[in-house]
Amino acid sequence: MGLLSDPNRRKALTNLLTRLNTPICMVCYLAAIVWFMGLAFEPFTLRTYMSENAMGSTMVEERFSAGERALSTAKEFDAHKRKAGGMPVEWLVKSMQARGLEVFTQSFSRKLPFPDENKERYMVHGTNVYGILRAPRAPRTEALVITAPCSPGNSNNQAVGLLLALAQYFRNQVYWAKDIIFLVNEHDLIGMQAWLEGYHHTNITGMDYSPLQGRAGSIQAALSLELSSDVITSLDLILEGLNGQLPNLDLANLFYAFCQKLGVLCTIQGKLQRNDWDSAEGYTHAAQTMMLMVLKQACGRSWGDHGLFLRYHIEAASIRGINSFRHYKMDATTIGRLLEGMVRKLNNLLERLHQSYFFYLLPSLSRFVSIGYYMPAFGLLAVILLLRALDLWVHLGTPALEAVDGVGEAEQPSSPGVLTVLTPVVISHLTGVALYLLPVHLQEMAVEHFPVSETEAVVLTAIAIYTAGLALPHNTQRLLSGEGTEQGWKVLKLTALLYLAVLLGCTALINFSLGFILAVTLVPITASITPNMPKALSALAMVLLSPAFTILYCVFIYQELVEVPVGFSEGWMLFLSVISQGILDHALYGSLVFEHPAGGYKKIFETVEELNEPLPATVTGRIPSFIKGSLLRLGPGLFEVGAEPFYHLFDGQALMHKFDFSNGQVTYFRKFVKTDAYVRAMTEKRVVITEFGTCAYPDPCKNIFSRFFSYFKGVEVTDNCLVNVYPIGEDFYAVTETNYITKVNVETLETLKKVDLCDYVNINGVTAHPHIEKDGTVYNIGNCMGKGASLAYNIVRIPPKQKDKSDPIEKSKVVVQFPSAERFKPSYVHSFGMTENYFVFVETPIKIDLLKFLSAWSIRGSNYMDCFESDEEKGTWIHIARKHPGEYIDYKFRTAAMGLFHHINCYEDSGFIVVDLCAWKGFEFVYNYLWLANLRANWEEVKRNAMIAPQPEVRRYVLPLDPYREEQGKNLISLPYTTATATMRADGTIWLEPEVLFSGPRQAFEFPQINYKMNNGKNYTYAYALGLNHFIPDRICKLNVKTKETWVWQEPDSYPSEPLFVQNPDGVDEDDGILMTIVVSPGAQRPTFCLILNAKDLSEVARAEVDIISPVTFHGMYKP
Ligand SMILES: [Fe+2]
Repeated sequence: MGLLSDPNRRKALTNLLTRLNTPICMVCYLAAIVWFMGLAFEPFTLRTYMSENAMGSTMVEERFSAGERALSTAKEFDAHKRKAGGMPVEWLVKSMQARGLEVFTQSFSRKLPFPDENKERYMVHGTNVYGILRAPRAPRTEALVITAPCSPGNSNNQAVGLLLALAQYFRNQVYWAKDIIFLVNEHDLIGMQAWLEGYHHTNITGMDYSPLQGRAGSIQAALSLELSSDVITSLDLILEGLNGQLPNLDLANLFYAFCQKLGVLCTIQGKLQRNDWDSAEGYTHAAQTMMLMVLKQACGRSWGDHGLFLRYHIEAASIRGINSFRHYKMDATTIGRLLEGMVRKLNNLLERLHQSYFFYLLPSLSRFVSIGYYMPAFGLLAVILLLRALDLWVHLGTPALEAVDGVGEAEQPSSPGVLTVLTPVVISHLTGVALYLLPVHLQEMAVEHFPVSETEAVVLTAIAIYTAGLALPHNTQRLLSGEGTEQGWKVLKLTALLYLAVLLGCTALINFSLGFILAVTLVPITASITPNMPKALSALAMVLLSPAFTILYCVFIYQELVEVPVGFSEGWMLFLSVISQGILDHALYGSLVFEHPAGGYKKIFETVEELNEPLPATVTGRIPSFIKGSLLRLGPGLFEVGAEPFYHLFDGQALMHKFDFSNGQVTYFRKFVKTDAYVRAMTEKRVVITEFGTCAYPDPCKNIFSRFFSYFKGVEVTDNCLVNVYPIGEDFYAVTETNYITKVNVETLETLKKVDLCDYVNINGVTAHPHIEKDGTVYNIGNCMGKGASLAYNIVRIPPKQKDKSDPIEKSKVVVQFPSAERFKPSYVHSFGMTENYFVFVETPIKIDLLKFLSAWSIRGSNYMDCFESDEEKGTWIHIARKHPGEYIDYKFRTAAMGLFHHINCYEDSGFIVVDLCAWKGFEFVYNYLWLANLRANWEEVKRNAMIAPQPEVRRYVLPLDPYREEQGKNLISLPYTTATATMRADGTIWLEPEVLFSGPRQAFEFPQINYKMNNGKNYTYAYALGLNHFIPDRICKLNVKTKETWVWQEPDSYPSEPLFVQNPDGVDEDDGILMTIVVSPGAQRPTFCLILNAKDLSEVARAEVDIISPVTFHGMYKP
């Protein structure tokens, strides 16, 4: 420290660094190169070893013996492939089925941005075929994948033959703990990409694919087989994946260990390992192998199917059979045994591979260089940039320093303008953007005006923009500052040096090889160039050491290393195809990092304090004059009590929010609802009442006897009303889904009283989504004890405001009862539908196990979440009942299992009821994915979690009101505008298939709203909703349910909530009005705002911001 704080010593140090700057830089550069080349030198490397205990090659005896059969299957496959003129889908399906697999197909198509040069095509169509071998005695939670890519041109027949033979053999073994997926993917990487996106429900590259019908659990590892050569002498392991990603080193170790055990000749980069590492030849060989890896990694493409798995954090490698070592020959049985061993070892793993290195270079299969050893080589290059920057900094400051006696940071007398520096920087960036976007977009124009093909057009445009980009910043800088002042170029160069250092540093962290190769060429020229050099010389040096030329050199070096040297013209052609392939790969498989929200969403799940008085909000835009009331919303606000956390999204204690509007002035206010759950938690400083996913444990202070008796006091049901608020008569109630509702004063947000609905009506609890008619009549649904002690669901009617001023709740009545599909297990019900004359109730297979609920719950300390169960077999029942007079109509509408929370709308049309729902595919309970720990995780983790969750979909079901008139087996729906169907079956049930109104993988249209006043229960056109991106709310959407057109409002790192529709009193159209939502933007200066959007096109009308953060809210209302 003394060295830097003592001005004299500091000056001496800077003097030394300035004086010796050039020699130090040169030494650093040389040291970097020597260090890098030395990495392949034996003492620098470490011996590879298996880090996972479960994975040693011993303890497994390989018994696969069907190599001959694999070869004959391969021949059969080849014959069928020729006959079909492509992938023989039918034959594959049959062959896999014959081997006892569950077989599925997936069709896909992808439009290429420009035709690839080998195949001259724009459109790629194909079909993937895969079979799942279910683990005999394990849950379907984990899977392994073996793939064999299949392209029309190449013949990977042996791989397909071996894959099928392995499937047959594996089928008869009992030790599998993971499902095994056997996949034959058409068109190599494109098919692989379609399958992976289908499996993970993502769509990041604009691929069109049919959804996968069959899935296994989360994929733990994958192996891709490429056996194109007729004679195979050795197996080559390929690790380099997309953007330079590598699988865990243990996967390579596993391969190597089994090769050793079975005596199989194995290579990496096509090169055998030599034993004489201490000799010069030995070292050169290892260095070449390592260099090949560096080059392959730097180019960022996926060198096999496996490379695409890595994006999903699935450890994967390709195994390629090669024919380079004449004396050896390997039979299919040995390869089969090797795979058997590897798959069995992966099957034994309890966790994903994680023990060993993810960042490494391999000079051979038995030795590796870890990140700690190779990073200094890059560091030495980066230091040069910083030393040069320091030198310039000192020179820039020197005159000023002398003027004020060597101390201080005085202003520069003639400091160059900001424009001198900024302009070239901006232009450089713009050239980059142009280079990124224009080549593909300008191809049509180029093809029209010049005699070139599309591919040539793209490559030539890229080269033209690049060349222009090299000249532009230089020339502008000259123009701006005349001949360029001494100060001017120094400041610009200083900026460039620091900029480059940051850029290369980031690149090297993501992809060391790319960072290092760029640094080797860019650092010397950036460090040494000055305007004092001869112009022609500096221009030449700059061009020759620019990234494009680096690619050119790499092409030649690569050809040299793989022992297929090329001449200049051949090399140039290769260079051009590398550029086209690079642009194509980028478009096909995706960029370095794909878009994701910043981590700000974690903030909406954090505890906040209530307010003592309303906060004034800052308004931008003009608030419509008809907005004069209050926006009321509810959500969790307290996520832990003392040291005890709440675990589930629906557990935090209810916080009521209010935005008040009057004369264009807006205020924000919030208060905790003082429920028993809240008050007792605050008093006892612990969770006292069990919440949805958090159990309250007995008071530790009580003695054992009083604790024992407290078990038998029965279930203490929560009144934590964090879900919604709605009016009954003249009062307002904050609600959750139990029998307790809480009366609140919506002016002061004070809590008035707790009401137990069980006192008035036979109900165990009601939903937070009642229907409210224009006169104020409230209808709601909940489960109850029906006749004969079995479960049922009651629709309750609460009348409007009473003339005698009595509480309407006292006049609550059950108007109709729906039976339960299962006697003791009612379904979870979150909302229901109501048309002018009917009630619609969807009974999903997500059941509440009442027995657990009543017994185990109070004794074992479980919570509500523990009492849910769901079963695929059960399917979904849809019930209807007449409203006046209340009467259940016993039509047996059935459809496949689904999850459902929110009805959008229902209406009657020509003898049918149209039911629009925000459905979740499958039978799994979506709430299982809404634990706070999942929602607060990092984005990658959030996505991974959402990938295995049910998929959202907006669906339209149509129910015939007079179904018995028609015949069996015929579609009963005759509405012209829908593709939904209803078919009468022999057993008297009516099977419904929906029309999908909106579907986006992992993108939910949820918390739906409509113009309720005008259209509830009636034919309608528009629905509005909150967009959930992997369960994180990040946009507002509008959907035209007739045309399926959509609109979106979105801002970066902003998290909106349910959009409430308020009609413009002068409006005529259904969407004449505004949407109101509370948006949380944690990074903003005023992080919470009430956003008002025009409901027509989701354009912003106004926002009222406050300087305080707000947590997530679920539902609410606008009170005029
Ligand atoms: Fe809801």
